[in-house]
Amino acid sequence: MNNYIKIKSLYKIFGNNTTEALNLVKEGMSKEELLEKTNCVLGLNDINLDIPKGKIHVIMGLSGSGKSTLIRHLNRLIEPTFGEITIDGVNVLKLNNKELLEYRQKNMSMVFQKFALFPHKTIQENISYGLIVQNISEEICKEKSQFWLKRVGLEGYEKYYPNQLSGGMQQRVGLARALATDAEILLMDEAFSALDPLIRAEMQDVLIDLQLELKKTIVFITHDLDEALKIGERISILRDGSVVQDDNPQKIILNPSDKYVSDFIKDINRSRVIKAKSIMIKSISIKKENVPIIDSEMVLEEVLQEISKTKYYFVYVKNNKNKIIGKITLKQLLNGIQRPRQENKKYA
Ligand SMILES: Nc1ncnc2c1ncn2[C@@H]1O[C@H](COP(=O)(O)OP(=O)(O)O)[C@@H](O)[C@H]1O
Ligand SMILES: [Mg+2]
Repeated sequence: MNNYIKIKSLYKIFGNNTTEALNLVKEGMSKEELLEKTNCVLGLNDINLDIPKGKIHVIMGLSGSGKSTLIRHLNRLIEPTFGEITIDGVNVLKLNNKELLEYRQKNMSMVFQKFALFPHKTIQENISYGLIVQNISEEICKEKSQFWLKRVGLEGYEKYYPNQLSGGMQQRVGLARALATDAEILLMDEAFSALDPLIRAEMQDVLIDLQLELKKTIVFITHDLDEALKIGERISILRDGSVVQDDNPQKIILNPSDKYVSDFIKDINRSRVIKAKSIMIKSISIKKENVPIIDSEMVLEEVLQEISKTKYYFVYVKNNKNKIIGKITLKQLLNGIQRPRQENKKYA
């Protein structure tokens, strides 16, 4: 099933008398006004999202936009004020306490920003924790934790304690612990945000590398655009509890839905992010000889290099099956690289 996690008309309001507050929000009252008039905080406002299986789905937004509130609904650490959540056909809001506990243990793992490791347990014990609570035999726990320890590059550290490890290494343990249970869904709330830039980039690579093989359903929260673009196959942007854009990364950069989104992306180096396939004109016209043929996954910076090697003002674009699927002119290329003039559209 493609829409593995389905979120429908989800609202979360923090405070008293949320029924009345919900009505006001549904009638269009803003977060600011709601707080002023009712003392309630609008956490999520009519979220509708389909998250496919086996992909990395990024949730991005400024601090306070509702990212943690949203991800915590998926394992019901937070109960919604209104709405529906189904995961692989299971209505998670209908599960009773016992079913919920079991559902979480079997299907979801969470990786936290502050690692949340047990300080008095060894690395190996930390990694096998999610298995031990499921009454899995000691032998298998040991075997699995050893496997994942190795897989995240921490072989030899099994007997260490968390405080003997650097932040980056502790987060590798956090990741190994999450993966050890074989849960299909990985929830990562700013998991790499506390790490130094180099370590952070390293962890992103570890995750991308693991994902190539594991194909988990990963919901990854970040407030960092570079991180979102690097790992996200799809990005949902939150503002004041609403999704303002939900698209693939290329579309978000080329067609930001409003000023909030264009402010987010204004400082990125477009030539290193936008791909040929996103700006080409589709055509299968007869090829002129000597015109360079470039790969549709090339970023614009590379395309520019290719064009500048020849006397032509365009290149052909081919897909991964070596079929010509379009072309890009120099003018289009420069348009793609240049940041569009700031529009004066107000935040929607
Ligand atoms: N338990 C709570 N009680 C009241 N307000 C809350 C609570 N948790 C979150 N909020 C509010 O909900 C909004 C979204 O918060 P959060 O999901 O933590 O944002 P983010 O993770 O994007 O920084 C914020 O305005 C925050 O103050
Ligand atoms: Mg948060």
